[in-house]
Amino acid sequence: MDSQSLSRRGFLLAGAATALTSSATPFKGTQGVPLKVGFPCLQAPAENTMGVSWAISGLAKGVVEYSESADLSNAKIAKSGGYGLVPIDIASLNVRLENLKPATKYYYRTITTPFIDYKNIYDAKLGEPIVSEIHSFTTMGAASAAHFCVINDTHAQWKSFEMCVGKVKELKPQVLVWNGDATNTTQDKQTAVEIFLDPPIASKDYGADIPVCFESGNHDFRGSWISKKEEVMMPRHPAERRGDQWDLKWNFAYRLGDLAMIGMDTGEDKPDGHPKWFGLANFEAYRKAQAKWLEEALVRPDIAAAKFKIVFCHIPLFAAKNHPDYPHDGVKIDPNDYAYWSRECHDLWAPLMEKAGVTAAICAHKHRFRCDRPTADRKWFQFVGGGPECGKDRKGVNPQRFPTVIEGKVENGRLRIIAHDVFNQRIAFDEFIA
Ligand SMILES: [Fe+2]
Ligand SMILES: [Fe+2]
Repeated sequence: MDSQSLSRRGFLLAGAATALTSSATPFKGTQGVPLKVGFPCLQAPAENTMGVSWAISGLAKGVVEYSESADLSNAKIAKSGGYGLVPIDIASLNVRLENLKPATKYYYRTITTPFIDYKNIYDAKLGEPIVSEIHSFTTMGAASAAHFCVINDTHAQWKSFEMCVGKVKELKPQVLVWNGDATNTTQDKQTAVEIFLDPPIASKDYGADIPVCFESGNHDFRGSWISKKEEVMMPRHPAERRGDQWDLKWNFAYRLGDLAMIGMDTGEDKPDGHPKWFGLANFEAYRKAQAKWLEEALVRPDIAAAKFKIVFCHIPLFAAKNHPDYPHDGVKIDPNDYAYWSRECHDLWAPLMEKAGVTAAICAHKHRFRCDRPTADRKWFQFVGGGPECGKDRKGVNPQRFPTVIEGKVENGRLRIIAHDVFNQRIAFDEFIA
């Protein structure tokens, strides 16, 4: 295989996979239409595993070649899926790298090979492999640099999304937490591929070298296709949870230097019995199961030993009694109301957070940046990230509306939180909070 020419070809074709195959029978092969291959997006980062997902424009198989050496010498090759048959697809490919070392830099590239024709397994023909550029990442771990960024409520608004991920590329964190409401209403896989893997923006390669740690918002449960979102945004590795917690696919707890990074899923923003859900909501049991998971995660020796513990979740966990959000706690069934904060998640999770000495919760959902400082009966900070609106909302000009990148890093043994207002290109918050 001439990897040089393939690399060149991969570079030329990479990054423009917005149009999926128009063939009426895409699973019969690309039929000579050149395959387009998107930039890889690192997903579900952990201490020993890393997901890699990428967009394709037609029927193809894919592998990831990875090594600790920049020239990929002694590289290993990981295939899609687990044991048995390797999955192929027409829109996206997912590969999970396993048995990695914590806090270790790896180099990798994707190799994608189209099926030109696939009548049956005895009568199928492969095209030329397309090899991506070499990218890199560092696995999570207590010896890793404690530096993260958070984006949220991006809602496929490409102008503000570009501002956010452009800032993230500049800040170069170890991990990017995408704190929900990435989507709006998702009716097909192509929409999800565009949002998660191939956005129409200049910085579409942001996830190739910075792992994305996703946590759903309420909108990420909406639409007739969205229950299949793990086809494009990989959930946590199954080995991270016990068998009886098999369906807690999105909760994470891992070390990033002195930080414990903990991810919770607040679910939808109205009660399960709300008529809008057509009986499809089962979030109350989900939040309870996560409380049990959280209780156990917080006493895990590696998590308990972390100097700072941060909880990430989409819907805020708290509103002060004198705050206008307070009456909207998401508990009662009301056709005109929804959760501005979740009393249910608060009552289940906050006592555990309090007991474990959690430093801060970083939330989203309200499309308006705010910081709730600790009080006598709540020892943790709550930050709420901004939304996609740039200087205005439905009622008109509103300077309080701006998208944010919330940056957290440990400097000289202290935790610094910086909220970047990426619309006005200013700092909205910058303090050592612990
Ligand atoms: Fe939102
Ligand atoms: Fe939301």
